Amino acid sequence: MCGIYACIGDIAANDKVLSGLKRIEYRGYDSWGIASCDQEIAIEKHVGKISLVKELQLIPRTIAIGHTRWATHGGVTQANAHPHLASNGAFALVQNGVLENYQELKKTATKNGYQFKTQTDTEVIVALLEQENAQAIKLKSFASTMQQMVGRNTILLLEKSGGIWAYRQGSPLIIGKNQRGTFFFSSDLASLSHDADMYYVLENQEIAHLEGKKLTIYQIENLSVKTTLFQKLDQEALAVDKGNFPHFMLKEIYEQTESLIKVLSESHNLFKKIAKKIDLASNIYLVGAGSASYAALHTTIELRKYKQHVFHVPAYDYADFENNWNKQDLAIVLSQSGETADTIEAVEKMQAKGVFIVSVVNMPSSTLMKNADLTYPLNVGAEIGVASTKALTAHILFGMALSDYLLHRNFKFQASVAAFCDQLKKWLSNPQVMKQIRQTAQTLSTKKDLYILGRGSNFPSALEFALKIKEVSYIHAEGFSAGELKHGVIALIEKNTPVICLVDEQNRQDMLSSAHEVKARGAQVVGIATDSEEVFDIHIKLPSKDFSNLGSIIIAQLLTYEIALLKNLDPDKPRNLAKSVTVK
Ligand code: G6P
Repeated sequence: MCGIYACIGDIAANDKVLSGLKRIEYRGYDSWGIASCDQEIAIEKHVGKISLVKELQLIPRTIAIGHTRWATHGGVTQANAHPHLASNGAFALVQNGVLENYQELKKTATKNGYQFKTQTDTEVIVALLEQENAQAIKLKSFASTMQQMVGRNTILLLEKSGGIWAYRQGSPLIIGKNQRGTFFFSSDLASLSHDADMYYVLENQEIAHLEGKKLTIYQIENLSVKTTLFQKLDQEALAVDKGNFPHFMLKEIYEQTESLIKVLSESHNLFKKIAKKIDLASNIYLVGAGSASYAALHTTIELRKYKQHVFHVPAYDYADFENNWNKQDLAIVLSQSGETADTIEAVEKMQAKGVFIVSVVNMPSSTLMKNADLTYPLNVGAEIGVASTKALTAHILFGMALSDYLLHRNFKFQASVAAFCDQLKKWLSNPQVMKQIRQTAQTLSTKKDLYILGRGSNFPSALEFALKIKEVSYIHAEGFSAGELKHGVIALIEKNTPVICLVDEQNRQDMLSSAHEVKARGAQVVGIATDSEEVFDIHIKLPSKDFSNLGSIIIAQLLTYEIALLKNLDPDKPRNLAKSVTVK
């Protein structure tokens, strides 16, 4: 949710920031801007996606900071785009977060004579800093301004003298360095791998000040200086490119043939530790937001095969469970980015009550990875497509494998995963199947509403199926438990209403009955199943009869990708969304 990128010390700083912002565009793509400096600050701001910028002549400058915006306060306009310049031109500032007390602070600043030019909360920070620091930023007053801010706010500021100030509270900020002594700042680690060899993850409540080549980190509390240890950046592991694929989404869908194996690479060592904790815990909570919440629901169903008190907690609804938590409890927290604000807040509340936190996270060095008591790294590589694909299936598989380990205390499950991945590879290269998916996408692309039915472990898959369709192809889609059908949903069915039925071996009979019931009312039945059935108007063959919950989701990913292309939409960057939702 908003991305920050900066380069200090390279003659092509402006260009480095331009390409850095393109790598973190998934964090928000309403507008973008760059401020660079050579005695005076020059600002370039535009509405729209930075990835569409093909040729832009930027003046060579050695210092530049940039921002790609997901609008929160103030519409998508050039004026509201970051960076925001101080009225005396002394500094420019970018922010990732939401200033929750901006109205109150704005009133005071207005009383003191500041004239606001934008509707953003960010300009309020500019106003506060400007009132306290007439010409140059001073550490003490910078710190006291930062302490007045309520909410999760990370900011980066460029002074016209060339000084850089940063403050992290919530949203991530990583400092990179290369061997020539050039510094970079970015909202994520993967984007830095193009430019930097070493990195330091700024902690919450830390201030970074860079003057020339001298970087100092202060703790805001007492302004004490912290000795920072830069770590080596594993550039290969973090490399981000589309390869031969036209979109990241398609590349990441195909990568599942390998990512589903990679996710279990740490299981031997970590499942034993997690199992010990599960055995001792009174209650287990599975937490996540968006797709990760559906994976959490799936894992809840899986772990209930082993333990009684297992609960699904959508991160944004944690308050419904808060009174029950205590230090005998364990939470398994799922997140691709490790930076989702709702999930982090739920974890902070649980930690305050002594709940033991296991995080299952993809992004290395992320907040949830660092703040958990135990971390299970997903290891599936950077996921850039905004709608989650390979991280979601990895999360689901993690839950299935953990449940299998708890029940059998062995690792035989991995062999069945390898077999599934082989079948998936063959299925993905089967032209007949891909043709069927494209034809179905064509049929569905003209529909306004569609419904997805599943049972058992295919219920969370039905929810995820609908989410993918909504996010990527902008068609209204709802997932239901097939059992719910007769209790209301069936009222929505009329002639030609598309109903997608996720048919697995275990629930085959019940699912086929539901298919007949909707068909009798005129529905167009799309069956996702191993075998074709007479009730299906369209049949899409599952990659394998095992893991049908994953197979269904992979079909959803391909279908929605194809629908997006037919509708001329960008599957990698659906409108209004951002991959890493770092605001509440
Ligand atoms: C956003 C994204 C979703 C993602 C969710 C949770 O809403 O658009 O694709 O599932 O955040 O993200 P996380 O990084 O915590 O898994």
